[in-house]
Amino acid sequence: SSGDEGKSGESYTVATDNNFVPFEFLNEDTGEMEGFDMDLIRAVADEAGFEVEIESMKFDGVVAGMQSGRYDIGIAGMTITKERAETIDFSEPYYDAGLTIAVQESNSDIKSEDDLAGKKVGTRSGTTSEQYLKENHPDAEVVTFPGIVEAYMDLQAGRVDAVMYDVPNVKYYVNNDAKGELKTVGETLQGEQYGIAFPKDSELVDPANEALQTLIDNGTYDDIYEEWFGE
Ligand code: ARG
Repeated sequence: SSGDEGKSGESYTVATDNNFVPFEFLNEDTGEMEGFDMDLIRAVADEAGFEVEIESMKFDGVVAGMQSGRYDIGIAGMTITKERAETIDFSEPYYDAGLTIAVQESNSDIKSEDDLAGKKVGTRSGTTSEQYLKENHPDAEVVTFPGIVEAYMDLQAGRVDAVMYDVPNVKYYVNNDAKGELKTVGETLQGEQYGIAFPKDSELVDPANEALQTLIDNGTYDDIYEEWFGE
């Protein structure tokens, strides 16, 4: 390794959520948190010279935990928004995402977001999708779930007509767990970028950004990306 200068050896708590494939999820067999975000934050910590202790909670808890300063770092596929940036800090963006719609494979009724009026649309509470639906689709009946997997299951069971959520999560779910049963429709709605979150004015923002840049420059970011999103 390149030496220990600047390495504080401090340990920081990282708040995440365990219901967002393939960014963060619990491996039931090992009891370990896995996913793109988990690999990324461990690599950032390694590069910046600190330790991390990961704690899993509901997504709303991650945002609230940054606002209260209860946790040092949050990583949970969290979209950088102006509103959130008023109360918490973000790293530079580390992932380009957006929103999309999933329906049952056999559905020919809903072809895009233009067909959501009068439909039951599931999503997860406290997310950008919930906000997007409220702002852009007042005629849709929005049903919020505490976890997105519950929303997908209700979609498969026909209890909701569609689910709106982050493109990489929907695609991953549709291509794996719900293969042949669910599909995505329409264009990507609202481009979004994910950032690592911190309590306002955290001293960790600069070191994390530097580490992130190093991981991008030295290929580590690409390796992690390839592992979770490669063909
Ligand atoms: N990107 C969306 C947002 O920031 C959803 C994130 C959900 N993340 C999670 N770990 N459940 O609102």
